[in-house]
Parts: sequence; C-alpha cells; structure tokens
Amino acid sequence: MQDELRRQTVLVVDDTETNISIILDALNDEYEVSVALDGMTALQNCEHTPPDIILLDIMMPEMDGYEVCRRLKADPRTRDIPVIFITAMADTQDEVVGFSLGAVDYITKPISIPVVQARTRTHLALRSARLALENQNAILEQKVRQRTAELQQSRLATITCLGRAAEYRDPETGSHIQRMAHYSHALAVAHGLNHEEAELILNAAPMHDIGKVGVPDLILLKPAGLTPAEREVMKSHVVIGGEILGNQPAKLLQAACQIALTHHEKWDGSGYPQGLSGENIPLYGRIVAVSDVFDALVSERPYKPAWDFPRAAAELKAMSGTHFQPVLVEHFLAILPQIEQIYDRYKETIEHTPCHDRC
Ligand SMILES: [Fe+2]
Ligand SMILES: [Fe+2]
Repeated sequence: MQDELRRQTVLVVDDTETNISIILDALNDEYEVSVALDGMTALQNCEHTPPDIILLDIMMPEMDGYEVCRRLKADPRTRDIPVIFITAMADTQDEVVGFSLGAVDYITKPISIPVVQARTRTHLALRSARLALENQNAILEQKVRQRTAELQQSRLATITCLGRAAEYRDPETGSHIQRMAHYSHALAVAHGLNHEEAELILNAAPMHDIGKVGVPDLILLKPAGLTPAEREVMKSHVVIGGEILGNQPAKLLQAACQIALTHHEKWDGSGYPQGLSGENIPLYGRIVAVSDVFDALVSERPYKPAWDFPRAAAELKAMSGTHFQPVLVEHFLAILPQIEQIYDRYKETIEHTPCHDRC
C-alpha cells in the first residue's frame, strides 16, 4: 500500500542541460525526478536507488546510452527497469539496436513535452501492472503452498489417529510402530527408492497391522501360544487391514493397503494371505516385512525376551532367501548402525496401553 502512495521515480540521463530542463518541466509535477549527466553516474545511481523508469540519451561522451542500457540489462538488480531512449537520430537502424538491447520505447528530439509525459505515463503504468501481477502471483503461490501444507498435515494427523486406534487394541507397542516405520524408511532409502517413496512408506507403514482391530480380544491378547484355528483368525488381520484401507484414491492409503495386505508374505511363497513369492510380493510389503520382523526380534514380547542386535541380525541373515528378499536383508544389515540409532531414539516412547497388559 505504501508503495502505491509513494511518487514514482524517474531518472533522466542526459549531458545536455536544455534537454534536462525540458524533461524536468514535463515530469516534475507528477514524479520524483533525478538527473545524471553521464552514463557512469547513472549506473551508480541505479545501483543505490533503482528508479521506476529511465529516460536515457543515446549520444553522450565517454559512455553512450547503448552501453548504459547494455549494463543495466546485464545486472539482475536493474534489469527490469524500463528504459526509454532519447535520441536525435530518427534512424530506424538505431531504434532496432535500442530495442534489441531491451529498451521499451523511443522519444526523439526535439523533445515534445506531451510526448514525454504520455510515454512515461504509459510505461510506468505497464510496469505497475506487471509488478502487481507478479505480486499477485507470489501471493497466490504462497496461499497454495500454505493450503497444501495444511492438507498434508491434516492427512497425516488423520492417519496417525487411525494408527493409534489400532495400537489401542494391539499388544505390540506404540514405539514398535514408530521404529518399524523409520526402519522401513531407512531401508527404502538404502534400497535406492526416491525421497517421495521413502516418505510414503514411512507414513504408510504404521498402519500395517490396523486389521488387528477386527481380531477378537481373546485371540489378540492371549498370552499363551495360539491354537492353529486361532492362528488362522489372527492371520485374518491382513485381509481386514486391506478392507479397511482399500479402494481409496489417495496414494498414501493405497501404499498402506498394499503394506497391510502383504507384510506377512514370504520371499519363498510360504507366507500369507496369498502365498505370493519373490517379486510378486509388492516391494513396500517386502521392505516392511524385514523391518517389522527385525523390530519384533529386538523387542520384548510376551513369549520372548528382547534379543540383542547381533543375534537379531544373524536371524535376519538366516531368513534371507526364505522369508526375506536377500538384497533387502543385505541393505538392512548394511545400515544396522542407523537402525540402532532409530531403535534408541524410539525406545523411550511411552509403552501403551491401559488395557492390554492383561488387566
Ligand atoms: Fe501383521
Ligand atoms: Fe508389527
């Protein structure tokens, strides 16, 4: 707003006093006019306080107007200032040179006051319109960025809540969810997936066991081993998860659905629910399977104590080619120090939950 209220500024560059005084007469009432008597001074003035427009004489000693214009257009700070040439040379060839250097217009000598006023007004109006448009675009871009960030945030918040809802019924801990999601992200990066896909896995992996909300408590929370029939019911969590997350257009939910459905498939085809093998198992499912099992190994469970890292790593290696894709095990073991850092970072997360511990 302040910018709109201030008087626009014009720099006149001319070595002839008569021309200067005519131009001052023409423009002084409406604009803030400053004068430079030679090219070098004009360039210095523009560097300090760039004017809104420049009226530039071509024929000047030492540095002519063309050279001044060339230098103005080469400098990003002054490139966008409109330049109108003032010339006595009503030669079309000179005009061509001037336009090719980036001038917006010509005023020919002898200088006519109405012409100076009209051309200056027109080009200042054009400049103002261009700046307003650029400003408007910047505001719109900023708004779009802000709106996108808000949407992304609320999407992730919804998903976090969904994951939390699942955790409430899952005897596995909230910190397991965090750790396995971050292991999966690190493994995705180590395996060469791009940033976007790795983030997708990070955000989708927490929902891998969401289907457990559909498994009866008697089975889900049973401290002792499961009967074969109960194990079958337990296995249904992958299909239930797929049904909860399925048929959604959002990329994140599609990834989450794929992970929920396939994180118990095994490389050799002995997993469930479909008994897929090798690369028929979607990559996200293969990645999450490694992270999920590894974290179960290094965590305490009702049926086992927590294993140390070397023992868990040896177990992972032993399952390479049967349970897991060998190259993924290789990549996972290569980033083991990073995995340990993640383990430590999320170790202290409050173990949930009010009702799981067989109360
Ligand atoms: Fe699972
Ligand atoms: Fe898990």
